[in-house]
Amino acid sequence: MQERLGTANLPQKKLLLQAMSGECTSQIPFWLMRQAGRYLPEYRELRTTAGSFLNMCFNPEFAAEVTLQPLRRFGMDAAILFSDILVVPYALGQSLNFVEGEGPRLGPFENFAEIDFAAFDKKLQPVYETIRRVRKSLAADKALIGFAGAPWTIACYMVQGQGDGAFNDAKKFAFSNPQEFDRLIGTLVTATSRYLIEQIRSGVDAVQIFDSWAGLLPEPYFERWVIKPTRRIVDNIHKAYPAFPVIGFPRQAGALYQKYAENAGVSCVGIDQYFPLEQAARTFGDKVAIQGNLEPVFLLTGGKTLESEVRSLLEKAGKAPFIFNLGHGVIKETPPEHVAQLAEILRTYRR
Ligand code: CP3
Repeated sequence: MQERLGTANLPQKKLLLQAMSGECTSQIPFWLMRQAGRYLPEYRELRTTAGSFLNMCFNPEFAAEVTLQPLRRFGMDAAILFSDILVVPYALGQSLNFVEGEGPRLGPFENFAEIDFAAFDKKLQPVYETIRRVRKSLAADKALIGFAGAPWTIACYMVQGQGDGAFNDAKKFAFSNPQEFDRLIGTLVTATSRYLIEQIRSGVDAVQIFDSWAGLLPEPYFERWVIKPTRRIVDNIHKAYPAFPVIGFPRQAGALYQKYAENAGVSCVGIDQYFPLEQAARTFGDKVAIQGNLEPVFLLTGGKTLESEVRSLLEKAGKAPFIFNLGHGVIKETPPEHVAQLAEILRTYRR
C-alpha cells in the first residue's frame, strides 16, 4: 500500500486512498466535483454573507465551512478544498472578477516571465489556512483533496480573459506564438507545483489537477501542452513527497486518454461521461485508478433513472481500482435529495 511521507506508521483507513493506491476496494469511494456549491441552500446562505465569490474563497472560516457542508449531509469519502482554479493567475498578478451569472473575467494578459514568489505565496496563504482548518474537523476515515488547474486550462483563461467553451482566441495565440506559449506553460508548471506542494504541506491527502479544456487540443499539442506539463508538475510533487497520490482530469480527452494515463505520471485518471468506463477499465485500469464518470444530468434527474444508471456504471468498473464521481461538476439545479439517494446507493453497494 502507498505510504505518505510522515504518516508511514499510521494505519491507512481512508477508502479513497486505498483505491488511489491501486486496490480493488469492495466498497466504492465517492465524492463529486462541485459537491460544495449553489445546489446547497447552506452554501447559498453563506455565499450571500460573504458577498463576492472570491471573498468566500479567501476567507478561511467560510471556505472551511463550505468545504465540510456536503460531507455533513451526504458522508462522501472525501472533501475537496473550496477554492477556484483561477486563484493561481490572480496570485501571479492578473486581476480577476467573477461576474454574477456570467463567470470569470481576467484582466489584460501578461506573460509573467518572472514569478514574484513572495507576493504569490502571500496571496495564497488563506488557502493553506483553510486546509489546516478543514484538517482539524475532518474524520480520520475521510480524505481531503487539494487541487489546481492544469497549465493548459489556466493559460486558456489567462490569454482569452474569459471562458466560452471553444477558446479559439487562446488557441490562435498558442499556435501562432508557440515559443512564447511554452514559456507561459513553463511559468504555470513552476507556480502550480509550488502551490500544490504547499497544499500538501498544509495537510491535503491527495490532489487533483483539473484540465477542463484538454479536449480542445489535437495531437501533437495535446502531448506538448497537456501531458508534458502535467508530468512535470507530478514529478516536482514526487521530489518533495514521493508517491503522493495525484488525480489527473483531462476532460474530453477521448482517444488521447490512454496516452495521458500512460505518460502523465498520475496515480488516478478522471474520465468524463463521454468516455466509456468499461474501455478505461480495460485499457488503463491496470496502470492507474479510474475516477468518474456519471453523466451529471442523471443526478439532476434522480429517481429510477439515477438508480439504474448508477448501478450499471458500477458494473462497468469491473475489477479496476475505482472512485465514483460525475463526469463533470454537479449542476446547480440538482435537488440535494438526489445526492442523498446517490450516497445511499454507494454506501450499501459491494462488488
Ligand atoms: O466543490 C468543488 O468542486 C470545489 C470547488 C471548486 C470550484 N471551482 C468552486 C466554484 C473547484 C474544484 C472549481 C474548479 C474550476 N473552476 C474549474 C475546473 C472544473 C470545471 O468546472 O471544469 C474551472 C474551469 C473553474 C473556473 C470557474 N469558476 C468558472 C468557469 C466559474 C463560473 C461558472 C459557474 O458555475 O458559475 C467558476 C465559479 C465557481 N467556482 C463557483 C463555485 C462553487 C460558482 C460561483 C458562485 O458561487 O457564485
